[in-house]
Amino acid sequence: MNYDFSVGFWRKRGLKAAIDRKEDSQTWAGHSLRKLPADCFAMQKLLCQCRPQVLVELGSQYGGSALFFASFAREAGMEAIVSVDVVDLPKPSVPIATFITGDSSAPEVAAKVKALVGNRTCSVIVDSNHHAEHVDKELALYAPLVSPGQALIMEDTLVDVLNFKKFRAEGGPLRSIGKYMPSHPDLELAPGIEPYITTNYFGYWIRKASAP
Ligand SMILES: C[S@@+](CC[C@H](N)C(=O)[O-])C[C@H]1O[C@@H](n2cnc3c(N)ncnc32)[C@H](O)[C@@H]1O
Repeated sequence: MNYDFSVGFWRKRGLKAAIDRKEDSQTWAGHSLRKLPADCFAMQKLLCQCRPQVLVELGSQYGGSALFFASFAREAGMEAIVSVDVVDLPKPSVPIATFITGDSSAPEVAAKVKALVGNRTCSVIVDSNHHAEHVDKELALYAPLVSPGQALIMEDTLVDVLNFKKFRAEGGPLRSIGKYMPSHPDLELAPGIEPYITTNYFGYWIRKASAP
């Protein structure tokens, strides 16, 4: 499977303008949420379609995103959120969320997450350290948790699309996606989800419902 991960001029321009305006520094119910509003809509749309029993989030930061996901949990059929961050920052109380402090690339942390998911259906959002070397490890550890018909959301491919200096040598999530997806054809880009302006170009994936 060959993918074309190029992004057109105007979409890049729009993204750059949104980032310059810090439109990805939002709050949800008063708590920091690091996402563009259009990505929040895309995520709730996709998760309400997939209806995972458990949502795994890598990169909790201040917990605003977990609070956001929890706000539509009932409608999405979500029972639990498991959110990992290497730093234990202050967070709001999110009754359905379990926050784990640890390095998401550590096999023992992944084992804890896997145990909490159990045999429930699971979607995964990858939003921690965006360096390709780290994202490669996260894909290897957590993509297998994504059940058939469920979502894998890879955040902040913008670091590749806009060629951020810090990521130029090693690459970011898009480089990892380009490496991982060709050998995992049961993961497909989710149709009708990606916003025109997004920090997550080519970041919305879904595992084919018929996958084993
Ligand atoms: C972009 S922020 C997450 C934003 C949050 N998901 C949101 O939407 O509001 C990235 C987070 O990843 C965390 N992080 C960085 N390296 C990590 C690692 N190795 N394991 C787990 N979390 C990590 C950082 O501490 C930071 O809180």
